[in-house]
Amino acid sequence: MAVTGILLVLFLIAHMLGNLKIFTGATSFDHYAHWLRELGAPLLPSAGFLWIQRVGLLTAVLLHIGAATILAMRARAARPVRYAHRKKVRGSYAARTMRWGGVIILLFVIYHILDLTTGTLNPVGDPSRPYANVVADFAPERWYVTAFYTLAVVALGFHLRHGVFSALRSLGQQTPGGEQRARLVALVFAVVLCAGYLLVPFAVLTGLVS
Ligand code: HEM
Repeated sequence: MAVTGILLVLFLIAHMLGNLKIFTGATSFDHYAHWLRELGAPLLPSAGFLWIQRVGLLTAVLLHIGAATILAMRARAARPVRYAHRKKVRGSYAARTMRWGGVIILLFVIYHILDLTTGTLNPVGDPSRPYANVVADFAPERWYVTAFYTLAVVALGFHLRHGVFSALRSLGQQTPGGEQRARLVALVFAVVLCAGYLLVPFAVLTGLVS
């Protein structure tokens, strides 16, 4: 879980930084998207890097879900007789919502790809003009799109808070005081990532980016 999670987190950091380039203007943002397609040329064909990234991300997501399923099955097998009265589970809200949070994120990513990668669900829908796609997407009259993105990013934040905490505990941080430190690092990371992602839709919604 931790290793595939870290790969996904690295993508999330890179993608968030890339999205923030929207504040540098249309030419610069579209140029960045074009650069991503030509990355690795002439060794790689056009969009070669993107396809390697897509295969890597899909593999990491499938292994991440596979590992979660195995862990859930092991936990169930460890307690074959179900509790007659299931007590409220200890642990944070984030820890208890990992499964449904994961499902929301997965559904969001499917919608998001149809929206901003293929352009199928986007009012502009031109893959060569990502700036125009993003601005059309989060226009004030389409406030419900921003609302949906906000829901997904907040679900991602909760998922990351618990995930980063668990990964830090799995991969070390077992020293005295380590738990508190891991908890704080995970919280700060989740908040910064959520804020970084939400800046873009809200900047368009409020007219800061147009
Ligand atoms: C909330 C603000 C977000 C914005 C404004 C945004 C923007 C974009 C844009 C413009 C693209 C197309 C890039 C291109 O054509 O080169 C894209 C692709 C993508 N985004 Fe996002 N994104 C956001 C959040 C997220 C989140 C939270 C995730 C993951 C949980 C995510 C995952 C992806 C993936 C997997 C792709 C497809 C990359 C590919 O072409 O293979 N995005 N995003």
